[in-house]
Amino acid sequence: MNDYITKLEPKYLYLISYRREFKELCSMEMRYIFGETSNSNYHLTNQLIDISRSPFIKGRVTILYSNEKIDTIEKKMIEDNLSFNNYKIHFSKFDEVPYQTRLESMRALGTTINGDFAIKDPNVEFILTKIDGVWIFGKLEANPNEWIKRRKKPYNYSHALDVKIAMAVINIAINNNFDLKVIDPCCGIGTLLIEGRTQGIDILGYEINPLVKQHCNINLNHFGFKPDVNKIDMLKTIEHYDVAILDLPYGQSSLITREEQIALIRKSKEISDKLVIITMDNMSNIIQDIGLTIVDTCKIKKSNTFSRYVTVCT
Ligand SMILES: C[S@@+](CC[C@H](N)C(=O)[O-])C[C@H]1O[C@@H](n2cnc3c(N)ncnc32)[C@H](O)[C@@H]1O
Repeated sequence: MNDYITKLEPKYLYLISYRREFKELCSMEMRYIFGETSNSNYHLTNQLIDISRSPFIKGRVTILYSNEKIDTIEKKMIEDNLSFNNYKIHFSKFDEVPYQTRLESMRALGTTINGDFAIKDPNVEFILTKIDGVWIFGKLEANPNEWIKRRKKPYNYSHALDVKIAMAVINIAINNNFDLKVIDPCCGIGTLLIEGRTQGIDILGYEINPLVKQHCNINLNHFGFKPDVNKIDMLKTIEHYDVAILDLPYGQSSLITREEQIALIRKSKEISDKLVIITMDNMSNIIQDIGLTIVDTCKIKKSNTFSRYVTVCT
């Protein structure tokens, strides 16, 4: 039997999925949520986390039965005399399982459940899967993917952060500590503020451009958050925070020199204990030259013209 599954007897199976360009970001996010990298499209753990926090976690399966033999699970299910009305069983493919075996296994387990099978709109959804030779049967809670709605804001700029990236970066910044005081010193139209506050995090923003600041506050208000962003030059601030998330301004949105970018990075570190920087190009050397220690980094590459680097520094 798979050592990992038997020793840990994990309670949960998290189903993970991402587009190719987000592979590194997803892996980084999982390191901060679960404390270890998920090297595939699932994660087995006893940790119960709110799946709506991540754009890459598609669902959480509460494991009800696991065994090397499907017959053993079937017997246990008969003994347990399960009753669910309007239920559906899905198969999640991890180990290679022939189509016919999948169908037969789902049918065998389905017949042990008292109640009607749902063709559509099920009340209860189950997952059957096989991972490293172990069959797993459990109850699925799908990610409601509410974040998709937050893509539509009253004001949206082409240089604003993608909601998926913002959500992942928030998780990377807080590392499961919801009590941290976080600052977004160059907050633009507030994508990070909205994602952070949706997770219940104390995150504030500064914005130097009065019109962008106004649009940010309209966006915050739209999602039910306090429109509290003031027109502030972050370079002149002194307030200290646990974490700063700097989405570095770059040439496309404003005329900014390398020296000015460096000044923003320096200042962000000065006002925080931990800094997460989002850049359009690889600035590792510059970041290290400034005297920061890079503890983690990842690259998001969508096309030849779109790249983002997420760098965690102390
Ligand atoms: C890359 S954009 C941020 C986008 C933001 N993450 C979003 O999703 O909307 C950088 C922002 O930093 C602001 N900015 C530049 N220098 C600043 C400074 N010294 N203090 C505060 N904000 C500044 C710019 O006006 C711009 O709106």
